[in-house]
Amino acid sequence: MGLRTLKCDITTLKVDAIVNAANETLLGGGGVDGAIHRGAGPRLLEECRGLGGCETGQAKITKGYDLPASFIIHTVGPVWYGGNQGEPELLRSAYQNSLAIAREKNLKSIAFPAISTGVFGYPKEEAAKIAVGTALEFLKGYEMDIILVAFSDSDSKRYQRLIDSK
Ligand code: AR6
Repeated sequence: MGLRTLKCDITTLKVDAIVNAANETLLGGGGVDGAIHRGAGPRLLEECRGLGGCETGQAKITKGYDLPASFIIHTVGPVWYGGNQGEPELLRSAYQNSLAIAREKNLKSIAFPAISTGVFGYPKEEAAKIAVGTALEFLKGYEMDIILVAFSDSDSKRYQRLIDSK
């Protein structure tokens, strides 16, 4: 239980839920979204078609299908427009609403990619602070194994430094 970081491909993790950094259509895309749809197989897209999309900052859950993870929590982070368009609040909401779904479903382990920091252009250091801060805040009230997945050495070092500083 608690917070840790792991450098890996999130689609390989055998956890209760992995989080997808999706877009509002929930119908797939590039980056981690593309990797998750490829790993889960076509039944994921079928289930996603029935969800009616997802607003930025919100989250919805599906099965994990062919992935080792049991569930996928799809959330939509904000596109970075310079920081004055509510981006920090929306990114925090994406993490919080994903954790709230995991709690409602009684899940014990969840892994997050660095939401919004790829195609959506959110500055990595600022996004990592929100990820670590939101996770630690949540863990004050609930027990869960939260993994912040890094996809590069620099992301991994950043998460480790921020976690160690708390
Ligand atoms: N495992 C873990 N992390 C990964 C993986 C992976 N397999 N692949 C990429 N990352 P992005 P966003 C990291 O662009 O910025 C899609 O088209 C990557 O290095 O996937 O939220 C959606 O459909 C980066 O740090 O998501 C949306 O349209 C992080 O995941 C849009 O991109 C997020 O990068 C969402 O953009």
